[in-house]
Amino acid sequence: MTLVKIREVLDGCCDGKKVAVRGWVYRKREGKTMIFLLIRDSTGVIQCTVRKDSAAWSEAERLTIESSLTLEGTVKSDPRAPGGYEIVAEAISIIGLAELFPITKDKSEQFIRDVRHLWLRSRRMNLIMKIRANVLGFTREFFKSQDFTEVSPPMFISAAVEGGSTLFGLKYFDQDLYLTQSSQLYLEILIYSLEKVYCIAPSFRAEKSRTIRHLTEYWHIEGEWPFADMHDLMRFEEELLAYICQQTADKCKKQLEELGADVTKLSSVKTPFPRITYTEAVERLAKKGSALKWGDDFGYDDEKALAEEFNKPFFIYDYPAAVKAFYCKTYREHPEIAMSVDMLVPRIGEISTGGVREDDKDTLIRRIREMGLKEEDYDWYLDLRRYGTVPHVGFGLGLERLLTWMLDLENIIDAIPFPRTTRRFYP
Ligand code: 4AD
Ligand code: MG
Repeated sequence: MTLVKIREVLDGCCDGKKVAVRGWVYRKREGKTMIFLLIRDSTGVIQCTVRKDSAAWSEAERLTIESSLTLEGTVKSDPRAPGGYEIVAEAISIIGLAELFPITKDKSEQFIRDVRHLWLRSRRMNLIMKIRANVLGFTREFFKSQDFTEVSPPMFISAAVEGGSTLFGLKYFDQDLYLTQSSQLYLEILIYSLEKVYCIAPSFRAEKSRTIRHLTEYWHIEGEWPFADMHDLMRFEEELLAYICQQTADKCKKQLEELGADVTKLSSVKTPFPRITYTEAVERLAKKGSALKWGDDFGYDDEKALAEEFNKPFFIYDYPAAVKAFYCKTYREHPEIAMSVDMLVPRIGEISTGGVREDDKDTLIRRIREMGLKEEDYDWYLDLRRYGTVPHVGFGLGLERLLTWMLDLENIIDAIPFPRTTRRFYP
């Protein structure tokens, strides 16, 4: 008897063989002479049949949903079984008999979110988490292929990156500190040593908005490098996204299909992405009857309306400096315009923001003051402009927003195992 993973059985490697699988009861249906079990492990779900005359019958009768077990039997191909194979059970050994499992078909979405620790066992969450892990892998592969060094920035920080309104404060012994909103400023430090750097780390936003695209804790893919401009930045970002999407379409095809995601949408992500300026975006919105004026920031509805026209990832660049952060570089001949770029996708809107960083010390000090920030909070950041300043760019891509788009998820909370929102922090 060989212990196998369920995926091996479904892949047809065990036809006619005696095998053992270890896992949990996913579904159970009892007939007079036959019990149908769906058994799941980390790799898949397999139908198992238990006949009344089998030695496994009495244990099969006792089994409850989510009980853990070892099941031995013979693999048989059967076109009626989901996946094309089933195991005819010969012996069952119960490992942990489950109490009455609270998640049943009639339960509300609300309830399912409350028992996240149990819902994570669902096939759906299993698939999403596997694809997520793969997407992280492809991201690292791409950065590595471009000679980037992965670095580990701190999460406790002493000054805001992205403005005070979404900053989480905390008591750090007897000091007031914050949870980081972005690792950008720390990546900027590291480019002076390592040049091309990136990190994949949590970012925190005290975000009160309850939308399908906001979390209070999310995973942020951020890159930063010197001697580059807006074109280099957009080219890098689109190549990264195309690589992630194509690799996912290719290597995670089965999981995407089982999840009901659109594989073709991902495989057809090709560079170059369309690029429009902020001004052009405002004009496009005006044609749609929007009252938005030059200088206003886009809301979620504006972004969605623009994204609908493209129906694929695209860039908007050259934003009004007033709606962008203090560190954004502005055009010398047009100080009202920041060299900042967002990537947008259908339905979700913005998935990344990046840009050229202000590398001139005096201009940076002016921007810090204009934005009502305290110069002394950014003293170390100004040092980077004092000692060997260089032109440099960087961006931040929200992993969960990316996954929400890639996998056609209804809500961002399903893109992360333990979502944190205004109301959700349990378990
Ligand atoms: O646009 P943001 O605020 O830009 C920055 O933080 C820059 N410092 C990044 C950089 O240049 N290194 O955030 C970047 C991305 C957004 O485009 C979005 O995808 C994601 O982070 N994001 C969120 N994702 C989920 N929930 C939230 N509340 C998010 N806020 C931002
Ligand atoms: Mg942004």
